[in-house]
Amino acid sequence: MLILGIETSCDDAAAAVFETRRAGIGKILSSAVANQDDIHRLYGGIVPELASRNHVVTMMPIIERAMAEAGCKLVDIGGIAVTRGPGLVGSLLVGLMCAKGLAQAAGIPFVGVNHIEGHLLAPLLENEIAMPYLALVVSGGHTSLFVVEDFGRYRRLGNTRDDAAGEAFDKVAKLMGLGYPGGKVIDDLSKRGHRKAVRFPRARIKSSPMDFSFSGIKTSVASFLKSEAGIATASEDLAASFQETVVDMLLRPTLAAAQATHASVVALTGGVAANSRLRERMAEALAAENRRLVAPAFRFCTDNAAMIAMAGSYRMLRGERDRLELDADANLAL
Ligand code: KG4
Ligand code: ZN
Repeated sequence: MLILGIETSCDDAAAAVFETRRAGIGKILSSAVANQDDIHRLYGGIVPELASRNHVVTMMPIIERAMAEAGCKLVDIGGIAVTRGPGLVGSLLVGLMCAKGLAQAAGIPFVGVNHIEGHLLAPLLENEIAMPYLALVVSGGHTSLFVVEDFGRYRRLGNTRDDAAGEAFDKVAKLMGLGYPGGKVIDDLSKRGHRKAVRFPRARIKSSPMDFSFSGIKTSVASFLKSEAGIATASEDLAASFQETVVDMLLRPTLAAAQATHASVVALTGGVAANSRLRERMAEALAAENRRLVAPAFRFCTDNAAMIAMAGSYRMLRGERDRLELDADANLAL
């Protein structure tokens, strides 16, 4: 069965064609993304109205591109999986309305998918992983630890109390005048810097060791930048020291969760999962405890529609479908 995936929860418009026969197993025939970084860069962050207006323009061409790359037409598609939340409501509505229109026109079913479920299942796109597995979802909007028990059964063990880790990368990059989005720039700059140049405090939530907090590090960097020492510190050193702090703060709760659940596999997913130092440190720390790290290819870490098709596919195969009344939900819970 060919599933068309559609994703517009934030500033990327994405479409993918995924061929599936069995839950969790399938072949990605195409995965196309229209990125809006050049538009939002001018404002130093995502402007929701611009994001949805641009989705209106790019959504159908991206769907056509995904189908052309997969060598198929709408008549070949058996069902559509579309993100219905959480995310920016204006952005979500564009993808959802496209999915409904195409499903109606082709006389095929569609299902609404939770964006986080997509991220949680993304590691399965190119790897066979036995369930249960532990997943760290770490992006610009989320920082959470989940046990993926089965398709449709997810248990949250930890969450950020304030900012997401990606948000900290983006805000610190903005403070340092490095542009938007900040994660990749800081990652690249850090390769030339000293990780121990500046010692920032590592936030820990003692009562809840599997939770995260990233608002403090952002404030620490802001006040350091204004200090004499801050003015004298090279950006490479500051970037590397900040990144090392964030990696430590992601590592500790993840290791606590892996130990508590006796996880043999830990999957990293979400945009920040592309961070080279996070991958390196996480792989080392897990290997030392005889656990395995699975991190999807970069294009499946960041927002994409292949993961949405994967997350919708097991429900499609069961014969589930949603009604045309289905609404977008900016705060959809998993
Ligand atoms: O998953 P994603 O594409 O969108 C959201 O759902 O948020 O993640 C985007 C986030 C941004 O905050 C970006 O700065 C961060 O992922 N990011 C990185 C790296 N590449 C992207 N953060 C750290 N290191 C990277 N190499
Ligand atoms: Zn995402």
